[in-house]
Amino acid sequence: MFQCVQAQVENVAVTRYDNSLEIFHPIRATAGMVASEQGLASQVGADILSQGGNAVDAAVAVGFALAVVLPNAGNLGGGGFMLVRDAKSASTLALDFRETAPSAATREMFLDHRGEVIAGKSTRTPYSVGVPGTVAGLIFAAQQYGSMPLERLLAPAIKLAESGFIVSPVLAQQFSLQRAHLERWPSTKEVFFKRKPEAPDCIVSECPTSSLITYSAGERLSQPDLARTLRTIATHGSDGFYKGTVAQNIVDTLAGASRPMSLQDLEQYRVSKRVPAKGLYRGYEILSMPAPSSGGVHLIQMLNILERYPLAQYGAGSAQTIHLIAESARLAYADRAEHLGDPDFVKVPERGLTSKKYADRLAENIQLQLITPSTQVIAGRANDFESEQTTHFSIMDKFGNVVSTTYTLNLNFGSGIVARGTGVLLNNEMDDFSAKPGAPNAFGLLGGIANAIEPGKRPLSSMTPVIVLKDGQPWLATGTPGGARIITTVLQTILNTIDFKMNIAEALSMPRVHHQWMPDFLRIERGISPDTIRLLKDKGHEVRVMPTMGRVQTVQQQGQVFFGASDPRNPDGAAIGIESIQ
Ligand code: GLY
Repeated sequence: MFQCVQAQVENVAVTRYDNSLEIFHPIRATAGMVASEQGLASQVGADILSQGGNAVDAAVAVGFALAVVLPNAGNLGGGGFMLVRDAKSASTLALDFRETAPSAATREMFLDHRGEVIAGKSTRTPYSVGVPGTVAGLIFAAQQYGSMPLERLLAPAIKLAESGFIVSPVLAQQFSLQRAHLERWPSTKEVFFKRKPEAPDCIVSECPTSSLITYSAGERLSQPDLARTLRTIATHGSDGFYKGTVAQNIVDTLAGASRPMSLQDLEQYRVSKRVPAKGLYRGYEILSMPAPSSGGVHLIQMLNILERYPLAQYGAGSAQTIHLIAESARLAYADRAEHLGDPDFVKVPERGLTSKKYADRLAENIQLQLITPSTQVIAGRANDFESEQTTHFSIMDKFGNVVSTTYTLNLNFGSGIVARGTGVLLNNEMDDFSAKPGAPNAFGLLGGIANAIEPGKRPLSSMTPVIVLKDGQPWLATGTPGGARIITTVLQTILNTIDFKMNIAEALSMPRVHHQWMPDFLRIERGISPDTIRLLKDKGHEVRVMPTMGRVQTVQQQGQVFFGASDPRNPDGAAIGIESIQ
């Protein structure tokens, strides 16, 4: 790839045009690009593009396909956000299909009689399930912006569910790691377990768990119930999920002593159209998800702070750059705990948080040579250990449309509960609310009143789908899973491409760092040099090397050429481009 890359060599800026200087290479194509966490789903999207579908058609098909081939995060039973850049109107819309709290939900539903959080209730029980939004969101997108009939967009997912697909080593490992979580529900056993060949004859959902095994790498996993649900949706649209047999099965599966979710909750679920959070960073227009995601607001807040510093001069991965990322994140995440919630229920000071003037004020607190301990940033503290299991896909088409979607079940395989007879795994998004405002919940999360549980309210999210415009034209679409680390991961993807002029494959390959105010330590990936770590410690950072962060999926357009890159941290992901339309 012959791309202009600015490099800093012994303090002299040189311009590199030479392909041989590139270490990482994105996928290149001329008629469209799809990047997702599962190559089979990316192929589905690429096929739709090559059949003449637009980016939204492809996104809807990918969203449904991921529900089949990435069952731990892709979903019908969860929710998420989609940014759509519509070429015709040259405008960008943020679709909010985040789950909502059922009407029976109460502020204290996860507390015991002493007012203490009941461990696990908000994550692994029928009460953890929010009213799913994904099916409504994908169908809304198809109806508003798509060009192909729903049957055609769902056909690839139905085929993958019916004929099955080959389980990858990554997915096999997830099945095995999450076994204890999945085997608690007969309806889930039926989908994700098999009888051991030597075990006595039994129906899988009723077999003792000692007679069952999970799927191994190389084996074919078919999901006939899910195929049937997908067919019903293809025929009846949203009603196929939110009314009738599927809805009844969801409600009945969750019902026990009480009914955490009602048929009316499902019937009344609505997608929200929102105005994207907007920022300007070194001349590039940044569009992302507004509340109830914290992602877009705090991404823009951090970019506004960092714009004040010559990061390109400090260099990618330098202690000074990492220090400034950490210090701006410390400030942004402190605000996140205080101010963010569902804007339909609480006032979110989005304009203030994303204003340049506010960033100026915040930056006055940043010292170049020393950290500001988080206890001095604001009174209070918050822990944030959200799950990695969310997923993102980015798509660009030849017509100038762009889609950037992040959706999720929350934790790995969500609540672990499959709605009987539907193949649909249900989320545990209720855990993203503050179970007890002002005190840590079961996962150590502290949140404010703004994110307290209320019927019909959407829980706060970190998901950060992004579209970047250059000179008013689509330039980049990106996003990632990673819980609280989503926002800093997306931030670094943007800094790597804009400040450090990396191609997108290189931008995704760099080691990442993360700070979230509380707990007060700097999390880094393997690959940051010991010298840099020493300099960071000299500035006062407590540095901890921890597992990898994020699995970014990025597409980019430069002139007539599309580039795609799928994060090397997930070997199942793929960017797939097309060269022509049939
Ligand atoms: N469930 C993770 C998030 O929405 O941020």
